[in-house]
Amino acid sequence: MPITLRLILSLLIASSVVVFTSTGYQAAQERRRLQGDLDRRATIVSERLLETAEPLIAGGRTEELQGIFDTFVQNERLRGVALYAIDREPLVMSKGLPENFHSLPLVADVAIHSDQGKSVLVQFGKEHWHLFALPVRQDETLKRVLVVFHDADYIHAHTSQVWRENFKQLLGHVLLICLIALIIVRWSLIQPLSRTLEWVRQISRGETAQAPPKGALFGPLTREVSRIAKRLEVAKAAAEEEARLRIAAESRWTPERLKEHVRSVLQGRTMVVVANREPYVHVHKGRQIQWMVPASGLVTAVEPIMRACGGTWIAHGSGDADRETSDSQGKLKVPPDAPFYTLKRVWLSKEEEDGYYYGFANEGLWPLCHIAHTRPIFRAGDWDYYRRVNEKFAQAVLDELEGTEDPFVLIQDYHFALLPRMIKNKRPDAKIAVFWHIPWPNPEAFGICPWAGDLLDGMLGADLLGFHIQFHCNNFLDTIDRLLESRIDWEQFAINRSGHTTRVKAFPISIAEQELATPPPKEESAESLKERLVKELGITAKWIGVGVDRIDYTKGIAERFRAVERLIEKYPAYREAFTFVQIGAPSRTLIKRYHDLGAELEAEADRINRRFQTRQWKPIVFIKEHRSHKEIIPFYRAADVCLVTALHDGMNLVAKEFVASRFDGRGVLILSQFAGASRELGDALLVNPYDTEQVADAIHYAIQMKPEEQQARMTRMLMTLQERNIYRWAADLVTDLSRISSPREPEAVAAQQA
Ligand code: G6P
Repeated sequence: MPITLRLILSLLIASSVVVFTSTGYQAAQERRRLQGDLDRRATIVSERLLETAEPLIAGGRTEELQGIFDTFVQNERLRGVALYAIDREPLVMSKGLPENFHSLPLVADVAIHSDQGKSVLVQFGKEHWHLFALPVRQDETLKRVLVVFHDADYIHAHTSQVWRENFKQLLGHVLLICLIALIIVRWSLIQPLSRTLEWVRQISRGETAQAPPKGALFGPLTREVSRIAKRLEVAKAAAEEEARLRIAAESRWTPERLKEHVRSVLQGRTMVVVANREPYVHVHKGRQIQWMVPASGLVTAVEPIMRACGGTWIAHGSGDADRETSDSQGKLKVPPDAPFYTLKRVWLSKEEEDGYYYGFANEGLWPLCHIAHTRPIFRAGDWDYYRRVNEKFAQAVLDELEGTEDPFVLIQDYHFALLPRMIKNKRPDAKIAVFWHIPWPNPEAFGICPWAGDLLDGMLGADLLGFHIQFHCNNFLDTIDRLLESRIDWEQFAINRSGHTTRVKAFPISIAEQELATPPPKEESAESLKERLVKELGITAKWIGVGVDRIDYTKGIAERFRAVERLIEKYPAYREAFTFVQIGAPSRTLIKRYHDLGAELEAEADRINRRFQTRQWKPIVFIKEHRSHKEIIPFYRAADVCLVTALHDGMNLVAKEFVASRFDGRGVLILSQFAGASRELGDALLVNPYDTEQVADAIHYAIQMKPEEQQARMTRMLMTLQERNIYRWAADLVTDLSRISSPREPEAVAAQQA
């Protein structure tokens, strides 16, 4: 039964009991009062009658008595009088009394026995009577009894009236009480109850519950539930955090995790990294020696791995103070301010550097692999130096591997295509991986190199060959297929040449994203940072774009400048409001094409600036100098838009650095569709860097992009970076390399014999 009905029924019963009891009491009182009145009146009447009638009674003069009796009952309520003998016979009776009174009434009997006047109310049919009996003495002896009959209907009518009135009142009371009860139940019980219920439901659904409903009635309950909910919330948050950490621990790679992983994979074996560019260059500055980190994607990626795992990095010692800062073997501990691993510098003569580095590597292979419409130059002399320097590095590696068993050698980049074969020939037990940091072109493009076959054969000395994206792996297999005698397993992406197998796989390189994610001091919001930077640059601008590159023709810097020019031309609102800041680190300046490019870019920036600039503003700020990471990061964090519009790029880590440094989730990345990074960072605005109109429109779109959209895009890209950071890249590479059995291992021997 619903609570409301139960409540109403209970109230009804309770009210009825109260009303019936009190009405019964009231009616009885009334009845007693009226009967009392009538008793007094009947007493007076009978005494007066007796005064008159006594002599007649004593004389037995019944006829006269009859006359007196009949006259007496003329009174309105007095309905009759009668005189009875003690033996019950009526002696005299006034006219009109009903037959019921022809024999002695009971009350007369009682009066006789008690010898005093007695009254009673009786009912015959519908009539109500009041009888008063008075014993009559004669000569001290009780001989007769006088009974006076009064009409008592009015007593009955009065008590009935009392009942009726009270019943009506009861009805009114009950209705009123029920109404009030209903209102109270609804307001004070049902509504708070349903609010409390909804609130509890919200909590149990795990939604963020609103404030608990107010009210004294459920106050203690809500307080208790609030406490339980809070405890649940804390437990839930702890469980979620634990799950998140568990998932993160499973999916997220950290320096510590990599270190442990590499240690368990190597099991005490040696690991050597070979890369042309050294991670720390020592240079003379006046009388002092300073060290710097060069602008290099390779260094950005590989250095955190070395810091985490230790080992030896063999590189060209290219700084003018490198010899003074290394030991007799060319070794030193780095980073210079907190040593973690060994840098072994290899010394090259000027001729070797010119032929191998500037010549074959950077005038030959670099433009050969980048489709940027700069022709490669192949000189036999350069090739000769390239081969000799590769031999020199091979010797440096072999020296380092002396006394070790089954070492791991990780060779970086296009400077060392011949190195894997050279090492493998001498140390078949070494597990060798090559990671090619630049794109790999199609067979037609690569085939123009006069020493294409030697290069490919040299690379196939490796056990594992890595590229940034699958497309480059495909191109490589196509090139081998076209240019070199070998057996290709297209399913496994493996090449077998003269019994040795090289696996080819994509390993998208990345960055140590956590290192960039530390927020700056509180007051340095993106806006205040922008204000500060713009002020330091000596201009005023509402929005800024940023580009960070080595000055290289593959980076599309001139095309970018022209897109900025088109933006200002097409959307005049950006005049005196948008400035593009290009940080360009001079690179390979001994090569004419690079030397000229620096000047060309300056001229292009000047031309565009002259077209639009005002006293306080210019569209392009070209900072043509090397800037450290520490100096670059504020530009990433202040920028409204970052332009990474390389004409062709293996990966491009600037794009990833920009995303990782935007802990505020703001800013927009405009990314070339020809950079490897575009495969992972699909939430950037992807553009064709040659399409000036499209890039200009992308800048406009980026600046106008709503903060929520910026946030959503940046968050998704950041998640990708967190999942696929440089530690995971290194772990994947080392794991895959460890799974390749070396020729001394039984299965490899069996395979070769077969
Ligand atoms: C690219 C290459 C790296 C090279 C870097 C800087 O990222 O893949 O091997 O180190 O450019 O070039 P640099 O010639 O100065 O080393």
